[in-house]
Amino acid sequence: MDIQTIGVCGAGTMGRGIALTMARAGFATFLFDLNPQALAQAQLEHEKELAKGKISEAEKSKTRALIRYTPELEECLAELFIEAIVEKPAAKVALFNQLAELNHGDCIFASNTSSLSITEMAKQILHPERVIGLHFFNPATLMKLVEVVQTSFTKPEIIDTAVALIKQIGKTAVVCADAPGFIVNRVARPYYIESLRLAENNAGSFEQIDRLLASAGFRMGPFRLMDLIGNDINYAVSCSVYEQLGKPERLEPSWIQHQLVQQGKWGKKSGEGYYAYHA
Ligand SMILES: NC(=O)c1ccc[n+]([C@@H]2O[C@H](COP(=O)([O-])OP(=O)(O)OC[C@H]3O[C@@H](n4cnc5c(N)ncnc54)[C@H](O)[C@@H]3O)[C@@H](O)[C@H]2O)c1
Repeated sequence: MDIQTIGVCGAGTMGRGIALTMARAGFATFLFDLNPQALAQAQLEHEKELAKGKISEAEKSKTRALIRYTPELEECLAELFIEAIVEKPAAKVALFNQLAELNHGDCIFASNTSSLSITEMAKQILHPERVIGLHFFNPATLMKLVEVVQTSFTKPEIIDTAVALIKQIGKTAVVCADAPGFIVNRVARPYYIESLRLAENNAGSFEQIDRLLASAGFRMGPFRLMDLIGNDINYAVSCSVYEQLGKPERLEPSWIQHQLVQQGKWGKKSGEGYYAYHA
């Protein structure tokens, strides 16, 4: 399938990075968000990223010309949509259905969800064979891996198109089945949950646990990583994987996460989480 225009929905942590990656790879891209402030912030961050990169002025101008920012749903016309909105299935399904009414019947709907069932979403969308997962990692501009999630409905041509596109943008596509948390988030869950248990039991402070695990070879300690991901998102993913796997005790989300989410301490993006951040 020929992809000309890519619509990225949700201009938060992930959508910003995905949109910039697509435009830098030469795709006409638009970033849609209901919140104009998120769009303005995304545009600012794109400018900062472009200023950092060792790319020519001509390339920067080309990238800028390829990205549009819009809060208007009616302007969302594309061959491929990648949604990176809140981790709530009903919101994602509602958005895809609104987009389905505006677009032709064979545009592809990809969800960047970290944990929700792509199959359950697909069942609620017209032409479920075109719904897939495209799970980018944070920060999306740098991280190479993308999990391409297929369901029993997915047409093989759609997976082929997605894999070719991921290669075209310089990333590594790994096709995987639609299982709770897919591969990476399933395996990563105990890293967060066990670290939270240690903190719950006063066996170490957030900083001590982070320092020890980073010294033991992990790229980032669990608490810094959760702050980078966003505690609202990480908690939603923890709950979703826990519930989908039948609530195993070892994966029970922590009251510490719950408390931080309730207090609006969502991590780096809100200025405070396990740590405090300055703008
Ligand atoms: N944060 C991570 O590290 C990470 C990594 C991989 C995947 N994900 C997944 O990506 C998705 C987004 O996560 P995030 O961290 O970027 O979230 P975020 O909270 O940073 O941003 C979400 C954005 O979506 C917008 N939004 C909410 N509802 C909308 C709607 N109906 N239409 C348009 N815009 C809407 C919000 O205004 C916000 O700007 C989630 O599904 C999450 O599981 C997150």
